[in-house]
Amino acid sequence: MSTGVIDAGLIGELAGIVGVAHVLQDPEITAGYAVDWTRRFAGATPLVIRPGDTAETAAVMGVLAGARIAVVPQGGNTGLVGGSVPLADEAVLSMRRLNVCEPVDELASQVTLGAGVTLADAQAHVAASGLSVGVDLAARDSATIGGMVATNAGGINVLRYGAMRAQVVGIEAVLADGTVVSHLAGLEKDNTGYDLGALLAGSEGTLGIITRVRSRLHPTQPERATALLAFETAADAVSAAAALRRSVASLHALEAVFEGAMEVVSEHLGTAPPVGRIDGTSNDTRVDGSPGGGAWLIAEAAARTDPSDELGAAVAELEDLVTDAAVALEPAARQRLWAFREQVTEAISAAGIPHKLDVTLPAARLAEFVDGVPAVVHAADPDARPLLFGHLGDGNVHVNVLGPAGAEPAESVDDAVLRYVASLGGSISAEHGIGTAKLSQLHLNRTPAELAAFSAIKRALDPDNILNPNVLLPQPG
Ligand code: FAD
Ligand code: MLT
Ligand code: ZN
Repeated sequence: MSTGVIDAGLIGELAGIVGVAHVLQDPEITAGYAVDWTRRFAGATPLVIRPGDTAETAAVMGVLAGARIAVVPQGGNTGLVGGSVPLADEAVLSMRRLNVCEPVDELASQVTLGAGVTLADAQAHVAASGLSVGVDLAARDSATIGGMVATNAGGINVLRYGAMRAQVVGIEAVLADGTVVSHLAGLEKDNTGYDLGALLAGSEGTLGIITRVRSRLHPTQPERATALLAFETAADAVSAAAALRRSVASLHALEAVFEGAMEVVSEHLGTAPPVGRIDGTSNDTRVDGSPGGGAWLIAEAAARTDPSDELGAAVAELEDLVTDAAVALEPAARQRLWAFREQVTEAISAAGIPHKLDVTLPAARLAEFVDGVPAVVHAADPDARPLLFGHLGDGNVHVNVLGPAGAEPAESVDDAVLRYVASLGGSISAEHGIGTAKLSQLHLNRTPAELAAFSAIKRALDPDNILNPNVLLPQPG
């Protein structure tokens, strides 16, 4: 859509709502809101508005809708699909000032959080009640609750508690025209019509601005045991992951790092993993697609009582698959094992600007995909370097692709990998969303009828197409 005119009158109206300090136009300041975490997606914006609460957000949207100004909602700007930054001169609506954590409702095991509360602040806020937020991810210090709902974020505990949509038991949002919809009672059973929270989860800022979230909480599981397991092949790691899912009732996380990514993170950390071998025959060099390349799993069990016997017994059962194992119980030792998974994203970004593909495969095709994807990447760009890791317990593989010497890989790599995923019956976006990065591949997973239904919902809630108009949905024809 073409965006409306931003003149002194409009700026004055907005400043009257949020205060002059929260209407930003200085390009040196607004530039920070216009580039994403990966540095792959960079645009520009004439205007950043920082409302302080729901009423201000509603009033701002009323003004922007009246002037037909397109707007990109933004939380912590840790999104990885180019959906949180203005790439077509949109205004940015930064939600970070909506950072109120309301008191924990211990009777209901729920809490209402402002959209701009960071995940780390939410985690700290509920901890004193012996409760935990169900979703955890490495961007916890910056990612906001609103952004996490808008992307239906996944993270490391999906196999235990589900993704962000499953945590939402109430929502408050501002629609494109400034209308506030609020349903925050948090009743566990409430069949009174459409579930707007579920609809907004994963909507990537295209249907409404999330202002408050009523979140389910879960009993904290303070006793932890963490195992780092090494395997010769991806197929062995996949078989072991399936066995652990079947046998460990207290399983809390089940993550994988494959050889090329393990090389990069080890170099970044300045140390090799305590188990397994990095021998330079990484999966990214096997251009013929032949199986091979080492794999590592991190399996964490969490419970009210020490789960180490349960995890240890399950690991012992895997003796035919595991080549080496390390188990840690103390927080510092567990953290040292986790570093080989949690630091992968930072390590790859330190090496260059990756193309980040985030896919799910059916369990039966997972190992085939991990072994086959390097050949698919190299066929599209012989100089590209695929690095694989992810949430193996959910069938979710992150395929990051670096170009030579820090350059980006060929654009065609993305399409080739995503077509390969679809051909195996997988999803082209497991948890990061479609954003602008995967817009042209959405049809690989969604039928024309589904896309038409999406567009009808979009038109109903945002008839002038001002909310994140370049994200998720094909442009109206
Ligand atoms: P932003 O990046 O600001 O925005 C993301 C999208 O949500 C955009 O489309 C934006 O328009 C929209 N949006 C933001 N706030 C609102 C709002 N209040 N109302 C409506 N729309 C809104 N993701 C995972 O799923 N799992 C992981 O394990 C994971 N790990 C990560 C690790 C690192 C180191 C990094 C950098 C990112 C990781 N991510 C992960 C991606 C990212 O953290 C998530 O997508 C997160 O949910 C984004 O939250 P945010 O507040 O930063 O949103
Ligand atoms: C992760 O699981 O580490 C994240 O989703 C981030 C990434 O894909 O780099
Ligand atoms: Zn992830």
